[in-house]
Amino acid sequence: MINGHRLIYFDNAATSQKPIQVIEAMKNFYERHNANVHRAIHTIAQEATELYEEAHKEVATFIGAKGMEEVIFVRNTTEAINLVAYSLGLNDFNKEDEVVITLMEHHSDIVPWEMLSKVKGFHVKYVGVNEDGTLDYEALRNSITKRTKIVCLAHVSNVTGIINDVKEVAKMAHENGSYILIDGAQSVPHMPIDVKELDADFLAFSAHKMLGPTGIGVLYGKKEILEEMKPFLGGGEMIKEVKFDEERKRCMIEWNELPWKFEAGTPNICGSVGLMEAIRYLKKLGMENVEAHEKELTIYTLDMLNKLEDLQLIGTKDPKMRSGIISFNIGNLNVHDVALFLDGYGIAVRSGFHCAQPLHQKFKLNGSVRVSFYIYNTREEIDRLVVLLREIECAYG
Ligand code: ALA
Repeated sequence: MINGHRLIYFDNAATSQKPIQVIEAMKNFYERHNANVHRAIHTIAQEATELYEEAHKEVATFIGAKGMEEVIFVRNTTEAINLVAYSLGLNDFNKEDEVVITLMEHHSDIVPWEMLSKVKGFHVKYVGVNEDGTLDYEALRNSITKRTKIVCLAHVSNVTGIINDVKEVAKMAHENGSYILIDGAQSVPHMPIDVKELDADFLAFSAHKMLGPTGIGVLYGKKEILEEMKPFLGGGEMIKEVKFDEERKRCMIEWNELPWKFEAGTPNICGSVGLMEAIRYLKKLGMENVEAHEKELTIYTLDMLNKLEDLQLIGTKDPKMRSGIISFNIGNLNVHDVALFLDGYGIAVRSGFHCAQPLHQKFKLNGSVRVSFYIYNTREEIDRLVVLLREIECAYG
């Protein structure tokens, strides 16, 4: 109970709740199989290693990757994007190169590129969005040139829920010989994804937004690209050999094979078990069903919110173009006041910029209130939200 009310959790774009199966699987790991991976030969070390590799394979199947060598475990989406930015950007990008991103990106797909561009001098190009929040595809097409090394964009906006046509963008990028990195933080948990069908070079996502634990995320990369890329973090596990060369008085290092080349240090082994269980849970539900459920809730919510006079929605009202994320303002009310009011009735929403300030700037907004759905949300919960929004609109609007 939250403030005397049953919790209605509408902050799934920030993180999801966890099923008992995920919690039990992680508990079971620590109770029965806890050991480090890829190191010792004793029994539980072998068990931990098997589980850890099995988790990579489970992720690979889930997203249609060729195999576990294309699945790198990182801490989260942010680290996955940083891995690509630092590995490619630091080693391969130069002054004359360009990185194309969009105005609707999460800060995690803006800040790493801006930071690195200061070091390497490459140009970060921003593609704008239309008044209805959709991506300006024409501008995107014109932004990609022969100098563009990589195009990075969110599959689904974490503010508007608008679904970008990343398959089309991948085509545009590849026609110019550029890579595409898809931020799948808000898509992989909510819809069927096949990296081969999308022709993604890189796909980044986090376990904690898809029923799994915090502290583990995934970078998918095409094998042939990953093989050429330099490691991001250095240390144990990511090397095959570190040999001291007497003549040169320094160590000669041979990288480990994929995906371990990109997984320096002791990884989040228990987290990988939790992620694997989360994926098994989602697979049982069927990603088509997850998507259909959220679509139905989104259509219903947009319809209900449309009846509130003072509510300004960010982005198109067309539910076909949206996933289950809806952000809005009510008159001139402070967004945090709205969120606190709802919290008083047990409804958890996010308020603020949602780590996407440039998009809010575009719409001249000082933040927004965001509701975001997942598998356990219901129409009844939305009805409750709308009643309370109407109340706040009448009382303070
Ligand atoms: N990226 C997460 C969000 O949008 C944290 O809330």
